[in-house]
Amino acid sequence: MTEMTIRQAGPADADAIYEIEKLCFPDPWSRDAIRQELSENPRAFYVVAEIEGEIVGYAGLWWIIDEGHITNVAVKPGFRNRRIGSAIIETMLEHTGQQGIRHYTLEVRESNISARALYEKYGFAVEGIRKGYYQVGHEDALIMWKHAAGPEENENR
Ligand SMILES: CC(C)(COP(=O)(O)OP(=O)(O)OC[C@H]1O[C@@H](n2cnc3c(N)ncnc32)[C@H](O)[C@@H]1OP(=O)(O)O)[C@@H](O)C(=O)NCCC(=O)NCCS
Repeated sequence: MTEMTIRQAGPADADAIYEIEKLCFPDPWSRDAIRQELSENPRAFYVVAEIEGEIVGYAGLWWIIDEGHITNVAVKPGFRNRRIGSAIIETMLEHTGQQGIRHYTLEVRESNISARALYEKYGFAVEGIRKGYYQVGHEDALIMWKHAAGPEENENR
């Protein structure tokens, strides 16, 4: 079986992440924006999935006090439905949860069934809608949240 590694991303991964962005999104982040995220944004945390030296997926998050705002999750088209997205999300939640993040949020296109299923699998639920959030396609975004279980759940909310 082919071995997959999930590791924290660094500035050297910017080009590979940009290539995945272009393959996966109609409105990709620019190469410069990704470089900046990886080298200059102290609140950004990115992970990549690597198979035989090829980066096949990634996810990013902004760390805001005890909240993780997930910026993007993407897996290269030829590598989907092999639980790579699941492994990326699991690693990200595990690592940042250990570091103190208790609530996670993200926006997802209403029509993005596979991404919604992935997030729901990890305990995210829809809590709101941003009307017309996506310029390409004029589509609404669903706002999903995941709250840590435990006595402090929803504290100060
Ligand atoms: C969303 C995405 C990251 C999922 O990656 P993936 O590696 O294919 O995901 P997984 O194989 O780990 O599947 C995770 C779960 O999603 C669900 N799922 C995946 N593909 C699905 C599909 N086509 N339809 C319905 N559910 C699907 C399943 O519940 C699956 O869990 P299971 O296999 O345990 O049943 C991938 O489809 C992608 O890159 N899409 C384009 C970019 C994107 O839209 N990103 C999200 C932006 S918010």
